[in-house]
Amino acid sequence: MPTIRDGRRADLDQIVERWVELMAAHAELHPELYRPASHGRGTYRTYLRERIDGPQSAVVVAEADGQIVGYVVGGAGLRAPFFEVREVGMVYDLGVTPLWRRRGVARALVCALLDKFRAWELPHAQVSYSPDNPMAAAFWPEQGFAPFLMEAYKPLD
Ligand SMILES: CC(C)(COP(=O)(O)OP(=O)(O)OC[C@H]1O[C@@H](n2cnc3c(N)ncnc32)[C@H](O)[C@@H]1OP(=O)(O)O)[C@@H](O)C(=O)NCCC(=O)NCCS
Repeated sequence: MPTIRDGRRADLDQIVERWVELMAAHAELHPELYRPASHGRGTYRTYLRERIDGPQSAVVVAEADGQIVGYVVGGAGLRAPFFEVREVGMVYDLGVTPLWRRRGVARALVCALLDKFRAWELPHAQVSYSPDNPMAAAFWPEQGFAPFLMEAYKPLD
């Protein structure tokens, strides 16, 4: 089993490679809405660095033999101001490199992230995933996440 630890700035290049794999998996589902912008890698790297450095924000990685084989990004996010429950723990990205899948790596990553949410006293965790993504659609319910809202798109001419 890989080591699960907090991501560091030195990991950024490898995490971006995992993100490229994540994007490839998503592009198969919906090429138009998931096509990365030409500046995508650099922009994502900056986003990751801010998540590593920021308060109530986390990048957790799985490391095996010096390689980052999976990662999860999350942080505290705000719901609308008229709700009593305003702050929730949001899971933004999760990816495990294909050779390491189905070995419990994502489960261990999410477990570590949810422990951080608990330490930050966030009462709920939230994730968005495509119901058309068979990996995500199998994984998240197994972690105890139940559908609540559906995000819908309509192409406009
Ligand atoms: C989704 C993903 C992160 C899961 O990572 P993983 O390390 O393989 O997941 P785990 O091994 O921790 O799986 C835990 C459980 O989730 C379920 N599960 C995970 N992947 C599954 C799959 N492809 N098919 C069916 N069930 C699956 C199983 O119940 C599994 O337990 P089991 O192996 O004991 O049966 C990985 O497939 C991935 O990176 N996919 C591409 C990117 C992606 O879809 N990310 C999620 C976006 S929200």
